[in-house]
Amino acid sequence: MRALLVLAIAACTEPRVGDTWQWELPAQFPVPRVPADNPMSAEKVELGRHLFFDPRLSNTGTQACASCHDPARAFTDGRTTAIGASGERGIHNTMSLVNVAYNSSSTWAHDVRRLEEQARLPMFSPLEMGASESEVLARLSADAIYAELFAAAGEPITIDGVTRALASFERTIISADTRFDRFIAGDEFALDASEQRGLALFESARLGCAHCHGGFNLASAYDHAGMAAPQIQLFNTGLYDVDGRGAYPAGDQGLVEVTGDPADMGRFRAPTLRNIALTAPYFHDGSAPTLDVVIDHYAGGGVASPLVSPFITRFTLTASERADLLAFLGALTDDSLTSPQFTSPW
Ligand code: HEC
Ligand code: HEC
Repeated sequence: MRALLVLAIAACTEPRVGDTWQWELPAQFPVPRVPADNPMSAEKVELGRHLFFDPRLSNTGTQACASCHDPARAFTDGRTTAIGASGERGIHNTMSLVNVAYNSSSTWAHDVRRLEEQARLPMFSPLEMGASESEVLARLSADAIYAELFAAAGEPITIDGVTRALASFERTIISADTRFDRFIAGDEFALDASEQRGLALFESARLGCAHCHGGFNLASAYDHAGMAAPQIQLFNTGLYDVDGRGAYPAGDQGLVEVTGDPADMGRFRAPTLRNIALTAPYFHDGSAPTLDVVIDHYAGGGVASPLVSPFITRFTLTASERADLLAFLGALTDDSLTSPQFTSPW
C-alpha cells in the first residue's frame, strides 16, 4: 500500500498557477479541481471568509458556519451531533472542512457533490442555520462592507454569489504539510519510529485501513486536477444491524437514502483522517467518543451483518501496536489551521 500512496501523490504534474490564483502546495501535493464556473480569486476568498464567520447567515443571527466548523478543532464542533441556531439537534456529527477542495462527494452520505450546492443545506435547513433567502440577502445588502466585498469579488449579492464565495474560501482550507506529508516526500526523520510502525500497521493487509482511507487524502471519495475520473466509494463498516438483516437505524441509513438501492444500506463516506486527533467524537452519528473506541470497533469487525464491507476484518493489536497506530494518527495533525487566513475578519 505504501507504493500506492506514494504513486497517488507523485502522479500529479498539474501546473501550480491558476488565472488569478496561486495554490500554495508542497511540490508533491495535487492541485484541486476547481469548477470552471467558479474560478478562484483572492477577492472571492476574502468575501467567503467574511460570510463563513458571519452569524447573520442564520435565522437567529447567532450562528455562523464557523460556530460548528471551528478552525481550532480542524473545523468541527466537538459535539456528538450538531446543534442548530434554534437549539435543535441534528442527526449527524459535524464534518471537518479540511481538504474539502478534494472531495468528490459532499456530506456523510453523498447528498451533494459540489461545495456550491452544499452551502445551501446548512444555511436554509431548519435544523441548522434556518435562514430564509430574502432575510439573508436583506441583511447583507444593508451592510456597506459587503457592498465593497461583493463588488471586489465580481459577485452579485445573491444566494449564488454567497455560495460561490463560501466554496472558494472553503477550497483554501488545505492540509498538505503534516509530518506524514514530509515523510512521504522523503524526509525519513519526519515520523519517529513509533509513528512509522503505526503507518505500516495502517497500510497493512491485517488492519486494512488504507483500503478505504486511501490516496493522498486518506479518504474514500476524492478528486483533483489531472485525475482521469473522481474516486467515489462509500462503505458499510458494520456499526449497526437493527433487524438482523443489516439495517441501520431508520432515518439515518446512509447512501441507500440517496440511491434507493438496498445494497447501499449503511454505506457512508470514509472521511479524510487528516487532523483526526482534533475532531472527536467520531463516525457519522458521533457514536465513538475517542480514537481508542474507533480502533476497538474495527478490531471487533463490527456487527455480523451480510452488508458489512469485506475490508472490515477482525484483528488483534498488542498494547504497543495500538500506541503506534494512535501515534501515526496523531502525526496527521496540521498546525497551520489556526493561521490568520482562517480566523474571523469581524
Ligand atoms: C449546526 C452546525 C453546522 C453549521 C452551522 C454548519 N455546518 Fe456544515 N456540517 C455540519 C454537519 C452536521 C455536517 C455533516 C452533514 C451531513 O452529512 O449530514 C456538515 C457538513 C459540511 C460540509 C461537508 C464536508 C464534507 O467533507 O463533505 C461542508 C462543506 C460544510 N458543512 C460547510 C458548511 C458551511 C459553508 C456552512 C455555513 C453556510 C456550514 N457548513 C454550517 C454542521 C454544520
Ligand atoms: C471498509 C472501509 C474502511 C476500513 C477498512 C476502515 N475504515 Fe475507517 N471509516 C470508514 C467509513 C465508511 C467511515 C465512516 C463510517 C460511519 O460513520 O458510518 C470511517 C470512519 C473512520 C473514522 C472516523 C472519522 C471521523 O471523522 O469521524 C476513523 C478515525 C477511522 N475510520 C479510522 C480507521 C482506521 C484506523 C482503520 C483501520 C483500523 C479504518 N478506519 C478502516 C471506512 C473504513
